Amino acid sequence: MNEPKLFSPGPVLVKDNVRHALLHYDVCHRGAEFEAMFQETQALIKRLFNADDSYYSVIVSGSGTSSNETVLSSIFQEGEAVLLIKNGMFGERLEEIIDKYKVPKVSSDFPWGTYPDVSKIEDLIKSNPDIRVVAMVFHETSTGMINPVYEVGQLCKKYGKVFFVDSVSATGGENIDVVKNNITITTSVGGKCLGAFPGSAYICAKESLLESLTAEQCKNVYLSLYKHYVSAKNTHQTPNTPNVNLFWPLNIALKNVIEEGLENRIKRYQCCAAIIREGLVKLGCRLLLDDHMSNTVTSVFLPSGITASVFLTEMEKRGYVFYIGKGDYAKQNMIQVANMGEIYEQSCRNMLEVFSACLASLRR
Ligand SMILES: Cc1ncc(COP(=O)(O)O)c(C=O)c1O
Repeated sequence: MNEPKLFSPGPVLVKDNVRHALLHYDVCHRGAEFEAMFQETQALIKRLFNADDSYYSVIVSGSGTSSNETVLSSIFQEGEAVLLIKNGMFGERLEEIIDKYKVPKVSSDFPWGTYPDVSKIEDLIKSNPDIRVVAMVFHETSTGMINPVYEVGQLCKKYGKVFFVDSVSATGGENIDVVKNNITITTSVGGKCLGAFPGSAYICAKESLLESLTAEQCKNVYLSLYKHYVSAKNTHQTPNTPNVNLFWPLNIALKNVIEEGLENRIKRYQCCAAIIREGLVKLGCRLLLDDHMSNTVTSVFLPSGITASVFLTEMEKRGYVFYIGKGDYAKQNMIQVANMGEIYEQSCRNMLEVFSACLASLRR
């Protein structure tokens, strides 16, 4: 079988130099070579978020969820509440973590695929003085929507709140800019728009927030943000044995973004998404969203008479991997076509040809 072409929102196709970095000779994570690479990677992560010197980054061995759980199990003092804005599956995932750690919560809920109403969010902030943190997802991957991060960041500035943003599926694909968006702390992972492997998560935060943490307030042993910060700061290491072999590809993927230029990478993703969207609509598919679409995920309903699960199996046989729609969308024959990682304009055109032929063969 030919290598599958991943048009899925993670894992993604990686550049050869990222894959080859996996073969780096073995190093000890308590030695100078690891420490130097670790510090370099931290600095590259900050560049990805356009962070200034008031920010600091740490790396967590785990998937994107591990970075979210590190933040949400660590940043609350007793009695402090979170305002969670949610409009899709990944907002719900944040809620699962918040509830597990019994953090007092105010919810600002919007139906999946609905753009959050910022005035409703402001009303909730004003009427709940216990709220210390506002949490939301940058790119709600389950629909492909970019949420109003700038507007909510401005509210956080106005009311003096900590702003936590899950940027897991946005980093390297959207312009995050933690300074402009007034983001206090944000998370991501290598195996999506950045073009590294799954399992290499990271966090970028205002150092003043990290400095304020205590060991006691962090409720998880492995995922303690305090421990990650103190180890990184004092020894340029991680608290536990990290997935050392994934650090090298993460480092190279970050350098690839610098070499391509973040702006150029974002433009490439925008061009690919435009080709995909135009092509799919011509083939009789219907887009879930009219507006606020991300640069990398297209949620689309297949033409009537085509069953999503059957179509995905047929496309997989032809070498293409997509996602089935999340939640109820699957029953409505929605699929998700992503363009993250090593995907270029020609790859999208090739994919559309196969997509078209597959639809035709299923109709016969
Ligand atoms: C926005 C967002 N947050 C969190 C996650 C969870 O990441 P992981 O599956 O790497 O744990 C994902 C995964 O797709 C995501 O898209």
